Parts: sequence; C-alpha cells; structure tokens
Amino acid sequence: MAVTNLACRECGTEYELTAQYVCSKCFGPLEVKYDHSALADDVASLKRRITSGPQNIWRYVDFLPLVDGQPGPSAKILSRVGLPAGCTPLVRADRLAERLGLKEVWVKNDAHNPTHSFKDRVVSVAAARARELGFDTLACASTGNLANAVAAAAAALGMPSYVFIPSDLEEQKILATGVYGTNLIKVRGNYDDVNRLCTEVSGEQDSWAFVNVNMRPYYAEGSKTLAYEIAEQLGFRTPDRVVAPIASGSLYTKIAKGFDEWRELGLIEGEAPTMNGAQALGCSPVATAFAAGTDVCRPVKPDTIAKSLAIGNPADGPYAVELANRTGGGVDSVTDEEIKAGIRLLAETTGIFTETAGGVTTATLAKLADRGDIDPDEQVVLVITGDGLKTLDAVRDTFEAHEIEPKFSEFEDKVLAGVSA
Ligand SMILES: Cc1ncc(COP(=O)(O)O)c(C=O)c1O
Ligand SMILES: [Zn+2]
Repeated sequence: MAVTNLACRECGTEYELTAQYVCSKCFGPLEVKYDHSALADDVASLKRRITSGPQNIWRYVDFLPLVDGQPGPSAKILSRVGLPAGCTPLVRADRLAERLGLKEVWVKNDAHNPTHSFKDRVVSVAAARARELGFDTLACASTGNLANAVAAAAAALGMPSYVFIPSDLEEQKILATGVYGTNLIKVRGNYDDVNRLCTEVSGEQDSWAFVNVNMRPYYAEGSKTLAYEIAEQLGFRTPDRVVAPIASGSLYTKIAKGFDEWRELGLIEGEAPTMNGAQALGCSPVATAFAAGTDVCRPVKPDTIAKSLAIGNPADGPYAVELANRTGGGVDSVTDEEIKAGIRLLAETTGIFTETAGGVTTATLAKLADRGDIDPDEQVVLVITGDGLKTLDAVRDTFEAHEIEPKFSEFEDKVLAGVSA
C-alpha cells in the first residue's frame, strides 16, 4: 500500500504506523504520510480502479492508511468491514443558488451515511486500522455524531465499545447511540472535559482504540474521502469553492488535503478550491482567530445550539486558519438564529433536512453570498455533514400547522381561506 509512516506536523519527525498521535519531541500532532509515486506512473488505470471500486470509501483505499489494503476479503462481510460509509449524493441545488443570487451550488449530502453523518467515514478508517493493529475495543470522545458512528460500527464489527459524551447532548443523539448496545458514558461537563477524560482513559487501557484520541491520525484521513467523492462526482474536477463546518478543524483541513493529493497526482483538473470554514458564534475560536489575523485559537466555553460543533479548544484550529488564508477563503461564524434560518433555507429550497451543523454551513454560505464574496459564476459545494432528525429542537416553533376538525367546511375556512387571502 502507499501509506508509509506518521510524521509530526510541526517538526517533521517520522514515526512508525502505530497508535501514536503526538510527537514525543515537540508535542505536535502526527499525520499519515504516503508515497504515491507508483500510482503516478499510470493515472489512467488508477482512475479505472477507483470508478469500478466498491460503492463506499474503500474505492479510495490507495489513499487511506491501511497497511493490508481494503478490509475484506470481499469488502462485503459486515463483521469484517463494518458499515459501508461514503458514496453519498452530490446534488445540484438550483433553487438554493437562485435564492442566494449564485449560479451553481452543489450540496454534498453526507446525512446519507449509515448513521446519518460524515462521522461514519472517519470511524470506518479508524476501526479498520484499529483491527490491523490488534485493538479489541472501540471508544471515542464525542459531540454526538461520532457517538452514533462508533456505537454502530462496533455493533457491525462485533466489538465492544465505550462512548463518552457530554451529558447535555440532544436526546435524539443519545437514543440513537444507546440503541446499538454500547457502553454509554454521560460526562457532566462539556466536550473539552470529555476529551481530557478520554485522553486519560486511553493512557490506561492498552487494548482500546479511541478513534479520535490514539487513532486520531488514521481517523482524520477518512475525511479526505469527501474531497475524492466531490471531485469524482464533478467529473474528476475540483469545484471553485467549498463551504464546510469546523469543530476540531479536522474535516475542513482534510477535505483540502484530499483535493491536493489528487491534484498532485494529476488525477483531477482544476485549481485548489477556495476553502470557507463555518462555525457557530457561540463556539467560534477559529473564526475569532482568523478575524484577528492570528493562528492562535484561544479556547472558549461553548454556548450554542450547534452542539455537534461545540469544541472550545480545537486541535486543528491553527491549521484551519492557515488553510483559509492560503486558499483565499475565510472562517465565519453565525448566530443561533441564523443557524435555524439556515436549516429552514436548505430544507425549503432543496428538500434536505440538516442538523444544526448544516444550518451553520448553509447560513455561512448565505452570509458569503450576501457579502458579495462569491463570484456569481463560481461552482460552490456546500458540505452538509449531518441529519436534521438528530436535532429536532432547532426547528421547533419555526412554522405553524393548521389544526382542524375533520370537516370540509373547517378545511375551507381555516386553511384554504388563509392561503388565498
Ligand atoms: C455534523 C458534524 N459536522 C461537522 C463536524 C466537525 O468535525 P471536525 O471536528 O472534524 O471539525 C462534526 C464534529 O463533531 C459534526 O458532528
Ligand atoms: Zn514534533
């Protein structure tokens, strides 16, 4: 396989492909490295291999950190591969574009994954690598969607799991996690408290793979598959601009890494997309740093309805700021009211019901369009990462229903009369 080693993002020190995630020299984060030179020799056959591959993220196995290749043998047995993630729809959203005064907007709808968020991608990769490394238990620190994805993946693979969440999470996300028979731990604190606890537990439990702690370098690679899919679905081209949400900053930065890898290989045409990051105002350390012209993201205490994005101390914050600057993009934040309006705007113009994170992203796109930051001719991709059914409270009381007796006269008086008025 093309994967070669881990390397520190700060000092470049190289490490073997183990479950290490921080540099022992400088405490910088570790990242997976590859040697794609053998693939560059025959890009045409690589492209054929990808397009005829399985209808899930394993069609991109050459770009993922598995040493033994696609989990198998056939990539069809649930207890070997886990839940198939990826290959979600990219739909052209003309009515949304029109409302925003733009020409070409595409929605990448990652709510179509097995547990209805993009987290199934990162968990697929982390779980597969965890099994290669011989771990027997899956675990995570979650803001909600990761909890769903880890619990479900563990159930499919037949592994025990431990899922740690802030105790005040949305009820839908808690129910949609517990149902898989995981060990669910509700921690009285925010995500950053949960994450600290998990780092400690991870140090004690040698046989546990915490997908976003000790397996983080592998886990993060899963988000690159969003870029590969978008490029493939656009006919092996890059879009002009991508708008994506930021919590830890992993998804946002890895989407860019995915486009870069394929551009370097000559697998796709087009420039590197302008990358716009989206945060909720009530938890916007990256947007604040970007606005201040620094890459130092000062930790905050989250207070927003976008609980899935409520990471006050984002691990990849500085890299997200750097990416926004490098691509001529930016990182914006939107209020809770704008998030609710964003959910409604997307739902009314596309038929896609997203959770609060998607409300953040849609509201940010609306803000960019309104500000005139987007050239009307641009091809823009809006990344929708989760499902509205998991955050139903966000739309409560945002519309009215007609309640009537089962009589035609009532329907006429209370509904039709109002519509024609
Ligand atoms: C729905 C949704 N979108 C986006 C994100 C952002 O992920 P990241 O931590 O990679 O920035 C999350 C993270 O928890 C999420 O649940
Ligand atoms: Zn280092």
